[in-house]
Amino acid sequence: MDKDKKLLWISPFVVFLGPQLAQMQLYSSTADLQKALRSEKSKRRSVGLVPTMGALHSGHLSLVKRSLYQNDITIVSIFVNPTQFNDKNDLAAYPRTLDKDLNLLSSERGEIWVYAPQADDIYSGDISSKKYDFKGLDRVMEGPNRPGHFEGVATIVERLLRIVRPHHAYFGEKDYQQLLIISRVAKQKRLGVKIIGCGIVREDSGLAMSSRNQRLNSAAISEATFIYQQLLWAKRRFTSMNLSKIKEAVTEAFNSNPSFELEYFEIAEAAALTAHSERKKNKKYRAFIAAKIDGVRLIDNLAMN
Ligand code: PAJ
Repeated sequence: MDKDKKLLWISPFVVFLGPQLAQMQLYSSTADLQKALRSEKSKRRSVGLVPTMGALHSGHLSLVKRSLYQNDITIVSIFVNPTQFNDKNDLAAYPRTLDKDLNLLSSERGEIWVYAPQADDIYSGDISSKKYDFKGLDRVMEGPNRPGHFEGVATIVERLLRIVRPHHAYFGEKDYQQLLIISRVAKQKRLGVKIIGCGIVREDSGLAMSSRNQRLNSAAISEATFIYQQLLWAKRRFTSMNLSKIKEAVTEAFNSNPSFELEYFEIAEAAALTAHSERKKNKKYRAFIAAKIDGVRLIDNLAMN
């Protein structure tokens, strides 16, 4: 099909919707998606997968663009995965904006299939997490602060990878610990996919884009740039100051800011996520923050060297 034809595909009907650029198909049934994928793969077309929970923004779109560039077909999954939420209020408050998401995707150029299943369908009726050995990657930061979170993430991502069997799958460094854990699971389970990490997309203010930002009012949005400023401050001191002193100073800065509740600030070695008080030669480090503002939990991270 001519890529510039301005139409939106909604399975099983073709719907003409005016100014859309992407050729899009929407699947809610796993069986229908797999049937269509079998046909495309038999034609040797390459497939990229971008797993999301929706409420899409430019951060998600950067993953989609990368996949469109590297593959014939890009599958964007949109599914708010209940098993990865340790906080039921957070799950209930998570924005669900499918129509807006479809609209946003339709202005990309290329072939996009949106896979938006119901929980019973994707979980085959058993909505629960599997157990994994993450080799310690889950023992720090998000792990202890969100019990069960990474089991939920790994369970749904493994399911998605087994359903779609993509050549490439795209994840953001915004969730850096998640990216490392998924890479490990894909290797351990020999899922035959190349996991591709993509850089963090930020607002002009430096605030990392996140679906959760939608829950903040404009005052909180501008205050939230404090998180990135603290990461930058840590980076500026990285070579000249002891790492525990940097940690102390950043923690103190958060404690003196009444708008924030700091969950953690860590500087960790970037591959194994082990925290160090001294820098080791030839190792890459990243700083990580999780903090709440107006009851909304935000995370961010930055390479230190
Ligand atoms: P979600 O938070 O929707 O994020 C989907 C993907 O977009 C993740 O890989 C995330 O790291 C990436 N992303 C989010 N904000 C970004 C930004 N500002 N810059 C670059 N990438 C960004 O992460 C999840 O969903 C879920 O845990 C999921 C992997 C879909 C499993 O349910």
